[in-house]
Amino acid sequence: MFNSFGELFRFTTFGESHGKAIGVIVDGVPAGLDFDEEFLQNELDRRKPGKNRFATQRKESDRAEVLSGVFEGKTTGTPIAIVIFNKDQKSKDYSNIKDLFRPGHADFTYWNKYGIRDYRGGGRSSARETAARVAAGAVAKMLLKELNIDIKAGVIEIGGVRAKKEDYEYAKTSPLFALDEKAEEKWIELIDEKRNEHNSLGGVVKLKIDNLPVGLGEPIYYKLDNVLASAMVSINAVKGIYIGNSEAHKLTGLENNDEITKEGFLSNNAGGVLGGISNGESVEAEIYFKPTPSIFKTQKTVDIYGNEVEVDLKGRHDPIVAIRGSVVVEAMAACVIADMLMLNMTRRIDYIKKIYQ
Ligand SMILES: Cc1cc2nc3c(=O)[nH]c(=O)nc-3n(C[C@H](O)[C@H](O)[C@H](O)COP(=O)(O)O)c2cc1C
Repeated sequence: MFNSFGELFRFTTFGESHGKAIGVIVDGVPAGLDFDEEFLQNELDRRKPGKNRFATQRKESDRAEVLSGVFEGKTTGTPIAIVIFNKDQKSKDYSNIKDLFRPGHADFTYWNKYGIRDYRGGGRSSARETAARVAAGAVAKMLLKELNIDIKAGVIEIGGVRAKKEDYEYAKTSPLFALDEKAEEKWIELIDEKRNEHNSLGGVVKLKIDNLPVGLGEPIYYKLDNVLASAMVSINAVKGIYIGNSEAHKLTGLENNDEITKEGFLSNNAGGVLGGISNGESVEAEIYFKPTPSIFKTQKTVDIYGNEVEVDLKGRHDPIVAIRGSVVVEAMAACVIADMLMLNMTRRIDYIKKIYQ
């Protein structure tokens, strides 16, 4: 239960960090869509671990195998199952924390909730699961490409240092998915410094969705902004999202309102959403990631028997999760928009008549 996301474009993920495989079933994909397996693999490669010193050194090829739902390069309208076999599990690294709760991680709550916990790499609570979401997002992006809808993201802030530019082209090739080359230099220094101190950092990802039609979002409880927020906060380590100008709460109404002319809106403080419905401007949001909980410092904790103990972590971890997190942000946003597009088709009699008359 509760491992699925979306209404009409709906995906379900399965698998654990050190289990045999992780994967996703994407249901509701329209038939006849060109299925680009190379693109799917590229998307997974962007998120995969072990690529550089800014990511965990776990070496996974993250090779996707498409098991169903595609025939001769086209989707068939049936569930698309994609599996990724885990290869580089080092469960031994986790044997010393078998009975302990890592501060900042999900061990305490999983143990207390379920009474059983897969301690190897965090089991289901591990962000390994986000690879499956990236696979679902790749399918959503294939659909959005047909409509010229463009989803992009990049890192805008690390350790409190803010980018001065939003250069999405640069972000594509940057090892940090950085939106600003200058800020990136400072971020690299900061990350290296914190890693040498066996510590970690938090960060902010900026999301931008271009070429959306007016009308996406289903008031009252499936609004574009509330579903986007739910999708983002479901990503491991995400603690908040700001839709539109993230300084809006400091502005007056006069400063914040986007004036409307015949040519369109004069500004976009609303971030492309009004009343939970897309207004035709770019959807813009900031997504806030906390620092990686696994740090190599001695910390206080308790064990499953209630004893106070000290914990010293081993294993391989991202020094900052916002970097790879930015690929997951894109994927979740793509799934939300694909779902909203399909829902919106059913919401007006003139749309329905266009199909059936
Ligand atoms: C792409 C990505 C990679 C992550 N890698 C790590 C990691 O290497 N080590 C770690 O302790 N947490 C990592 N996390 C974060 C944890 O999974 C997360 O903090 C933990 O499950 C507790 O959940 P919460 O922070 O959402 O409360 C990562 C998160 C993301 C999005």
